[in-house]
Amino acid sequence: MKTSAEDGFIQCLENNSKLFNGVVFLLHTPKTPSFSSSLQTYIRNLRFNESTTGKPRFILTPTHVSHIPTAIICAKSHGLQIKVRSGGHDFEGLSYVSDSPNFFILDMFNLRSVNVTLEDDSAWVEAGATLGQVFYGIAGKSNTRAFPAGVCPTVGVGGHVSGGGYGNLMRKYGLTVDNVVDAKIVDVKGRILDRKSMGEDLFWAITGGGGSSFGVVLSYKIKLVRVPNRVTVFSVFRTYDENFTHLIYRYQKVAADELPEKLFIRLILDVANGKNRARFVALFLGNSENLLSLMNRRFPELGLKQKDCIKMRWIESVLFWADFPTGTPITALVSRVPQVLVHFKRKSDYLKKPIPKSGLEFIFKKMVELKTPLLTFNPYGGRMAEIPPEAKPFPHRGGNIAKIQYAANWDEKGIEAANYYINLTRMLYEYMTPYVSVNPREAFLCYRDLDIGTNRNAAGNGTYYSEDAAAVYGVKYFMDNFKRLVKIKTKVDPHNFFRDEQSIPVSQEDEIII
Ligand SMILES: Cc1cc2nc3c(=O)[nH]c(=O)nc-3n(C[C@H](O)[C@H](O)[C@H](O)COP(=O)(O)OP(=O)(O)OC[C@H]3O[C@@H](n4cnc5c(N)ncnc54)[C@H](O)[C@@H]3O)c2cc1C
Ligand SMILES: *[C@@H]1O[C@H](CO)[C@@H](O)[C@H](O)[C@H]1NC(C)=O
Ligand SMILES: *[C@@H]1O[C@H](CO)[C@@H](O)[C@H](O)[C@H]1NC(C)=O
Ligand SMILES: *[C@@H]1O[C@H](CO)[C@@H](O)[C@H](O)[C@H]1NC(C)=O
Ligand SMILES: *[C@@H]1O[C@H](CO)[C@@H](O)[C@H](O)[C@H]1NC(C)=O
Ligand SMILES: *[C@@H]1O[C@H](CO)[C@@H](O)[C@H](O)[C@H]1NC(C)=O
Ligand SMILES: *[C@@H]1O[C@H](CO)[C@@H](O)[C@H](O)[C@H]1NC(C)=O
Repeated sequence: MKTSAEDGFIQCLENNSKLFNGVVFLLHTPKTPSFSSSLQTYIRNLRFNESTTGKPRFILTPTHVSHIPTAIICAKSHGLQIKVRSGGHDFEGLSYVSDSPNFFILDMFNLRSVNVTLEDDSAWVEAGATLGQVFYGIAGKSNTRAFPAGVCPTVGVGGHVSGGGYGNLMRKYGLTVDNVVDAKIVDVKGRILDRKSMGEDLFWAITGGGGSSFGVVLSYKIKLVRVPNRVTVFSVFRTYDENFTHLIYRYQKVAADELPEKLFIRLILDVANGKNRARFVALFLGNSENLLSLMNRRFPELGLKQKDCIKMRWIESVLFWADFPTGTPITALVSRVPQVLVHFKRKSDYLKKPIPKSGLEFIFKKMVELKTPLLTFNPYGGRMAEIPPEAKPFPHRGGNIAKIQYAANWDEKGIEAANYYINLTRMLYEYMTPYVSVNPREAFLCYRDLDIGTNRNAAGNGTYYSEDAAAVYGVKYFMDNFKRLVKIKTKVDPHNFFRDEQSIPVSQEDEIII
């Protein structure tokens, strides 16, 4: 039984290979020596690198776009689920783990060209490219062009852009998807469509609604944005003292609403040597004189000094933000090997009003007790507050001070350690309940969290759905936009071929199915 589906699928690909123009795809099955390395190369969360983690039937690595329509047709006719993997950074491993034993990975890493056209400030980027490659490609053409995307250079275009994407240019230019103008996708019928032929509904859906519900994204056309020749960055630490609470309280007041949109200050709260600590990391689209006078007026509590400020090209600020050592050459951005690999759990929240000082004291105390999980605040406001919530599937626009990320990292293998650290992360999330968004408690799709509506054990080999799971995660990730996503899904993929543990469901109402 097991081999026949595989053999049948391979036969089906071979029968259709005349469509491939002689270009060969690579198929790795558990019997081929390359299987483990192909699987592990793009596992970015070691929680899913365990022997107990569910494994795919095989891995298909297309080397030409013509392989993809055939893979879809053959997967359909052989009852196999496709998991598309571009950069493999999904927090819950959804691009390479499945609750279904009958799945394979369509690994896009070979399809990774980045073509920048400075004449119209645009670029076509393939799904398998990394953000670092995109940034590097832009920097090779100009010092005054950039792209508003994520901070980690090994993140893949396919998952990042389809999921919304954000980075430190968000307050000035909005999300990644606010700067995408075209796309190419292979749909469930195996057709290669661009924005014009797929229509505005599907284009809207794959710019923030997640790719895994709608098809296989081949590439996006992005719009470059302007940055000054030199930008200013800083990273300063403050540890717990009598004014710490006041400092964090003030941050919440100024970071989104009072500072100009050309200044983005991320706040990371953690615990070091048993004491609360804060790190403020900033990108300022201007020089340090202006930054200092601005900070002295609007946020003097931080006590920023000239010596904290570093002037550099935008592309160097990408390395700075990714925590590369000073002086690292920008070619490091094209490496597909991450700087570190750990086991991890992430969760997200939205902050709508400042946490009062008493609340901050409570959270600080709990963080010291829990030790591991840290909180990262990414300020909103600026351009984010101007874009209407229905412009893209991502709904969290005006009215937010910051998105909060919960993060626990650990080195120990095994389910026991995983359960321990996941529990700590969930505890902190519970303690934060009174201070964050409610009805719904909003969440960010790119910060995938299977606690929302679904629950998979830490080893990733079985998923337990709560009832109406989709209604829970759908509303948290997309709020009012969820309904439109369901309509589009029902229209473009009525038999729910493209699916995963948190995909957009097909509507059960007959009138919507056409
Ligand atoms: C270290 C790290 C740092 C991060 N930093 C940021 C950040 O700064 N900003 C931010 O917004 N996010 C950030 N993220 C989250 C990241 O944006 C998401 O995890 C994103 O989905 C990763 O894309 P990927 O292609 O690498 O992932 P994958 O795991 O390959 O894919 C993620 C999801 O998208 C689907 N998918 C992937 N490719 C395609 C395709 N071609 N067609 C259709 N569906 C597809 C997958 O099936 C899966 O459901 C970070 C993640 C990590 C691990
Ligand atoms: C492949 O083609 C052969 C010969 O035409 C046919 O007998 C077989 O059924 C096909 N198999 C699949 C899986 O399409
Ligand atoms: C993933 O697991 C395999 C098999 O146990 C191991 O050889 C490999 O080193 C692991 N990868 C990482 C990055 O730890
Ligand atoms: C980039 O250009 C190359 C060479 O012309 C082409 O093969 C590739 O498909 C292009 N990539 C995209 C995403 O358009
Ligand atoms: C705390 O803030 C007050 C003013 O609000 C200031 O006078 C004092 O020097 C600060 N203390 C420290 C340790 O920074
Ligand atoms: C964490 O584990 C403790 C001890 O087992 C348990 O009481 C608690 O409910 C767990 N918390 C969460 C949020 O899972
Ligand atoms: C899933 O993982 C758990 C924990 O390692 C293990 O006990 C269980 O047998 C696994 N289940 C399957 C179906 O592999």
